[in-house]
Amino acid sequence: MPTPDAHADLGARVDAAVTAALAAIDAASTTADLQAAKSAHNGQGSELASLNASLRDIAPADRKAAGQTIGAGRARVADAIAARQAELALVEEAAQLEAERVDVTALPRIRSRGGRHPLTMLMDEMSDVFVGMGWEVAEGPELEHEWYNFDALNVDPDHPARSESDTFYVAPADRHMVLRTQTSPVQVRTLLTRELPTYIVAPGRVYRTDDIDATHLPVFTQLEGLAVDKGITMANLRGTLEHLARAMFGEEAKIRLRPNYFPFTEPSAEMDVWHPGMRGGARWVEWGGCGMVNPNVLRAAGVDPDVYSGFAFGMGIERTLQFRYLLDDMRDMIEGDVRFTEQFGMVI
Ligand code: DAH
Repeated sequence: MPTPDAHADLGARVDAAVTAALAAIDAASTTADLQAAKSAHNGQGSELASLNASLRDIAPADRKAAGQTIGAGRARVADAIAARQAELALVEEAAQLEAERVDVTALPRIRSRGGRHPLTMLMDEMSDVFVGMGWEVAEGPELEHEWYNFDALNVDPDHPARSESDTFYVAPADRHMVLRTQTSPVQVRTLLTRELPTYIVAPGRVYRTDDIDATHLPVFTQLEGLAVDKGITMANLRGTLEHLARAMFGEEAKIRLRPNYFPFTEPSAEMDVWHPGMRGGARWVEWGGCGMVNPNVLRAAGVDPDVYSGFAFGMGIERTLQFRYLLDDMRDMIEGDVRFTEQFGMVI
């Protein structure tokens, strides 16, 4: 039972409860805080709710005025809650919009999956020069029989290139398998399997026991060429290589042939190339080897050298890339750094 004193200071108690409620409402910085303030200060069990409940103990004559005092207090609290609710809703909506903002002008961040390797692209481009002249592209295995890699190509059993210091032999030794040291064995495979006349290029990987440095790689790529027909001459060879040089290095590029020796060609030549952009100005660089197919090679592949003649050539694709783009160091070609690869344009 409330004491008469309690009724007497009703106004002060309502004011105190309202002041506490307004302070809590003001302090609420989220809608969740505000909900908590609302139930603490205006909900069941709050000071204002219990003051309201005590109305029934007040003398009927005073009840109306007391009810108005409490009602006015509760209304102020309810209004303050509604106002704060509206403010917080705006703030929270703005924060959410900011958090979910999408910058439609931002550049996409697409993760690069890599790029085609410049050697692969160049290999295709060189092959295409020949495909454009009606030649075919031939392939052979990288794990090759010694007969194709050396014997059929007229390489002496004691030729230094056959030594283990130059060639990777693959065990067991009695199977005579090597990692091919050149793409030239594809010449023999071609002559044994294709109809004559034949015009092929054979791009592919080759292996030598070289140490890696700026101009040597133990695994590298070559492009082999072979043309066998009736009446083929050295002039055909020269014209074909000149065409390739211009396609690779521009219209002003030139080639030069110097006598040399290869077991599988006779006569044989070393081919040098020059183009105006070449580092060091007017400098000739060794690009590959070539010659007229040795009759012994034709015979090994069952082709009659009295009826057919042919020319052949082979060059390194790494060297071609190096001369074309004036690259200093071949090791960049095998390190797999996309910053190198991407400069050649093909990013996927
Ligand atoms: N096979 C030789 C090498 O790897 C290059 C070569 C020279 C290929 C003369 C030929 C050629 O077809 O006729 O060094």
